[in-house]
Amino acid sequence: MRVVTSISEMRKVVEEQRSYGKIVGLVPTMGFFHQGHISLMHAAREECDYVVVSLFVNPTQFAPGEDLEDYPRDLSRDVEMATEAGVDCIFHPPAEDMYMQPYLTYVMVEEITDRLCGASRPGHFRGVATVVAKLFNIIPAHRAYFGLKDAQQVQVIRRMARDLDFDIEVVACPTVRESDGLAMSSRNVYLEPEERKAATVLHRSLQLARKLVAEGERDPEKVTGDMHALIVRESLVEPEYVAAVDWDLLTPLDRLEGWVLFALAARVGKARLIDNALIEVKD
Ligand code: PAJ
Repeated sequence: MRVVTSISEMRKVVEEQRSYGKIVGLVPTMGFFHQGHISLMHAAREECDYVVVSLFVNPTQFAPGEDLEDYPRDLSRDVEMATEAGVDCIFHPPAEDMYMQPYLTYVMVEEITDRLCGASRPGHFRGVATVVAKLFNIIPAHRAYFGLKDAQQVQVIRRMARDLDFDIEVVACPTVRESDGLAMSSRNVYLEPEERKAATVLHRSLQLARKLVAEGERDPEKVTGDMHALIVRESLVEPEYVAAVDWDLLTPLDRLEGWVLFALAARVGKARLIDNALIEVKD
């Protein structure tokens, strides 16, 4: 597997693969791999001829005071895991090259970035959309793989790719969980043992939503209210939001119908964790 740090070299590598008629897959990441990241690499490996994983802790998606400096990093372990997963190339550019100073150009996806995580992390999705647009330009892949663990991010990137005419198929892959249901996240390393146990309530609250919907409940406030009540029973978990929104535009619903995203964010000790469930409500 090769590790490329230069933007111009990365472009050349992808152009060469495309000139051979190869299907190129891209998996954007910030590193510190876990099985969630690996599942995206496996999906790309199965469907593409040449798989590039970008590994870049993107400063523009962190607000001042967030965990940019503390964000966990382990390049040699990541290289080993990506090699094992059959990845062909890791793109690991320096921040100075990705954001050559003075840096003045950003991509803003409107409306759907104001809600859910966007409400408490202003600027976050601007940073995500900007870096992903840059990656799509540097690595003109046929397909790019993202995890539904970050469901809002998937919709922001789909919208950005559609609105800006990127010729890249955005592929959404299922959330990978620990055996007790906790969604895998690089930020789970911040959890103390007691917090780690308490954090399973997030997944349990989503299972509760599934059960209530299956029993015929169609009032979003009733379901999110019960989820919230379950979460606050864990004293170490402080919910930030619990919401039921329409999957397309992430708008609040009067009634549960169609594809509904149940999404939540919570503070558990030092960590801010998110989780969600995408449920098709049929009647
Ligand atoms: P990062 O948090 O490293 O995640 C990289 C990719 O892995 C994202 O698409 C994310 O949704 C996916 N992922 C994370 N945990 C997962 C899990 N438990 N199951 C399945 N997929 C999971 O998301 C980012 O980086 C950045 O915002 C990025 C898109 C790279 C832009 O900087």
